[in-house]
Amino acid sequence: MARQKWGSRWAFVLAAIGSAAGLGNAWRFPYMAYSNGGGAFYVPYFIALFLAGIPLLMAEFAIGQKFQSSAPKSMAKIKKGAEFIGWWAVITGALITFYYNVIMAYIFNYLYHSFGVAWKDNPSNFFFGNFLKISNGPGELGSIRWPILIGLVLAWLWIYFILRKGTSSVGKTVVWTVPLPVVLLILLGIRGITLDGATQGLNYLFEPNFAKLADPRVWANAFGQIFFTLSLAFGIMIAYGSYNKKDEDIANNAIITALGNSATSFLAGIAVFSVLGYMALQTGSPVNEVVKGGIGLAFVVYPKAISLFPGGMIIQSIIGLAFFLMLLTLGIDSAFSLVEAVEAAASDKFKTNKKAFLIGFSIFGFLCGLLFSTQGGLYWLDIIDHFLSIYALLIVGILESIIIGWVFGAEKLRNYINKVSEVKIGKWFNLSLKFIIPTALISVLVLTLIDEIK
Ligand code: PHE
Repeated sequence: MARQKWGSRWAFVLAAIGSAAGLGNAWRFPYMAYSNGGGAFYVPYFIALFLAGIPLLMAEFAIGQKFQSSAPKSMAKIKKGAEFIGWWAVITGALITFYYNVIMAYIFNYLYHSFGVAWKDNPSNFFFGNFLKISNGPGELGSIRWPILIGLVLAWLWIYFILRKGTSSVGKTVVWTVPLPVVLLILLGIRGITLDGATQGLNYLFEPNFAKLADPRVWANAFGQIFFTLSLAFGIMIAYGSYNKKDEDIANNAIITALGNSATSFLAGIAVFSVLGYMALQTGSPVNEVVKGGIGLAFVVYPKAISLFPGGMIIQSIIGLAFFLMLLTLGIDSAFSLVEAVEAAASDKFKTNKKAFLIGFSIFGFLCGLLFSTQGGLYWLDIIDHFLSIYALLIVGILESIIIGWVFGAEKLRNYINKVSEVKIGKWFNLSLKFIIPTALISVLVLTLIDEIK
């Protein structure tokens, strides 16, 4: 059977941007920039983007497209023994979906709770007490939270329906799930910057503290953020590339994907920090005392700001809906891209039937998600997230760049990319793939390990 193909170039590019632009852009990037030198962070950020992120993205697109195969099979075609790297990548990705979808379940619930601003003026109590029902602190397992389960069912069903017909159903989804969060971010950003105190908030995000650039951790964070945000090393971009025709442009598509993704991050930074500035002014505490990233930002800090918004409950409900709809549509394309990377690998290796595989995987993922849906699930989620995103992503990235750069050959890949692409890439590509990416990732790994032991 012929391999499925994207309906158009834009279906592919939108799907790639959709995978890259996920929850990390909204809640990881702003916090990263803030805590790593503010405006100065953009220096290592762009260096990491151009020197490592974009080249590896091009390489992943190119490998998938050239071999017309998912990550494990592509790796096997380069070198038999390298197949395990591809499996490692997609299996970690699979584990990530199990809890990514639990967060999607939280978001579904908060979409509902936005009506009437259910968290009132104490979102922290609402989140931990009413919603998660954690009262005895960490480690408390116990009964399953039904509202989260319902959200989890919705998330898996949605993913199933998006992936069911492969590239054609994905293509129909990304035309709205990718632009919608961007539009919502723009609207939230405009409302944000017209609030009192917004400039103070934005100062925290943009005021450069160049002294921070002397800290190697800032550089490690920039490289880590770039690899994570571009969804690299999970076999996703390889699977997506494998649904292209062999002569599809690579260089341009990778650049558009990377810049579209970064633009989403910057918009999110503005939408988040302008509102934090407003909130700081309202509550009389400085911005640096209210700022948070991750789950705390999405379910505690931002809701708190919403409950302080001028205009009464109806306006606050609308802002809440816009915010959680933005997160939901931002997250969904990342969530299903992880599943698709696994599906592609399974179908290449075991000739699995797409629908049957998706149904089985969804049920399995749902059951694994139950672990995170219990009252203390949040703590499990934190631990596993930390573990996977650091070790799996870094180690796969190192092995992958070595296999592609040294075993397949960076120059050979560059020739292929240049044959099909409008923009021609120079020899710096080889340097990046063979030296810069492995060195950067090894350094990040070492720094992380050192911090871990301390
Ligand atoms: N790129 C996504 C984000 O920034 C996260 C992600 C990583 C999604 C890996 C899928 C795979 O949120």
